[in-house]
Amino acid sequence: MSALKRPEPRPSVLEIQAYVPGRSTTPHATTVFKLSSNETPLGPSPQAVRAYQAAAEHLAEYPDGSAAALRAAIARTYGLDPARIVCGAGSDELLNLLAHAFLAPGDEAIHTTHGFLVYRIATLSAGGRPVVASESNYTADVDAILRVVTQRTKIVFLANPNNPTGTYLPFDQVKRLRQRLPPQVLLVLDAAYSEYVRCNDYESGIELVATGDNVVMCRTFSKIYGLAALRLGWLYGPAHVVDALNRIRGPFNVSQPAIAAGVAAMADVRHVEAATDHNARWLPWLTEEIGRLGLKVTPSVANFVLIHFAHTTDRTAADADAFLCARGLILRRLEAYGLPGALRLSVGTEEANRRVVAALSAFLEPAG
Ligand SMILES: Cc1ncc(COP(=O)(O)O)c(C=O)c1O
Repeated sequence: MSALKRPEPRPSVLEIQAYVPGRSTTPHATTVFKLSSNETPLGPSPQAVRAYQAAAEHLAEYPDGSAAALRAAIARTYGLDPARIVCGAGSDELLNLLAHAFLAPGDEAIHTTHGFLVYRIATLSAGGRPVVASESNYTADVDAILRVVTQRTKIVFLANPNNPTGTYLPFDQVKRLRQRLPPQVLLVLDAAYSEYVRCNDYESGIELVATGDNVVMCRTFSKIYGLAALRLGWLYGPAHVVDALNRIRGPFNVSQPAIAAGVAAMADVRHVEAATDHNARWLPWLTEEIGRLGLKVTPSVANFVLIHFAHTTDRTAADADAFLCARGLILRRLEAYGLPGALRLSVGTEEANRRVVAALSAFLEPAG
């Protein structure tokens, strides 16, 4: 007989600090610009919205549990084998499924110091041990990752580009990581922001998945496709990984409205181009203008920037956050990421971007 007086979760579950999403409201302002969750300022494709609305006619029916239409659309777009794609309720679900399928209690999963928070949560929820690899200049460091690999390592989670830093690893570095990892370690390349990257030395991971047994790539419809509310992501992986995930995922883990909207969103290439063009214009603008104010901005290749504030004066990140919130500008606080001195700003509409720069300029003005 157990001495427990009530049902208890696994101890590692209680080590988890529940994920706190970026805020979407502020009590101070009526006009609100939510720049805290890296959503697209262009919204979804109108075609995706129409497909979603049409799906309302069939709400009594279960979805196609294999999401065949969506996997076919993704496969067409990227030239992939649809049998090696798994769709999920957001890439968050896929990251969790990977942890649950590949970690036994006590197994280790590596992420970098400021890696996406879901990696730690997914690892602990599966009974695994999160292991942190140091970064260099807010950027993943292949040698630091390799140094913390042990016999118990089962997964390396790498967001490329990373959230919340916006930095990335060039393809030759990712290849080097894959080459040096033991074959039993699964390298999870989380390419949630890959569509925004405009660097010749970047590759999202498709090539590595295609040429090996221990790499998967996760993607999302929440960012550039503007479908965050629908919870839709996908993964491309080796057949044996896909097989494992298909055994443990919910049989209807992706809803039919999400499948329909995802197919239509992929077909609207112009909308995606408009989103990347918008980002290509405003990401450098924000980086330069905020830098000109004397704030350090970590160079980003994604759709957000990490802004660093002073630690000791009344110009801290918390002070800036309060000042901006009072003006309806909601950025992301980063205490949970171990970055209390920084705020993350998503690239917004032209109006939002200009307002943020003007507000930061006012915030930094000497009192007097
Ligand atoms: C690096 C990274 N991976 C995955 C996700 C999760 O995306 P989804 O909405 O598909 O669950 C996010 C969302 O913020 C992210 O930043």
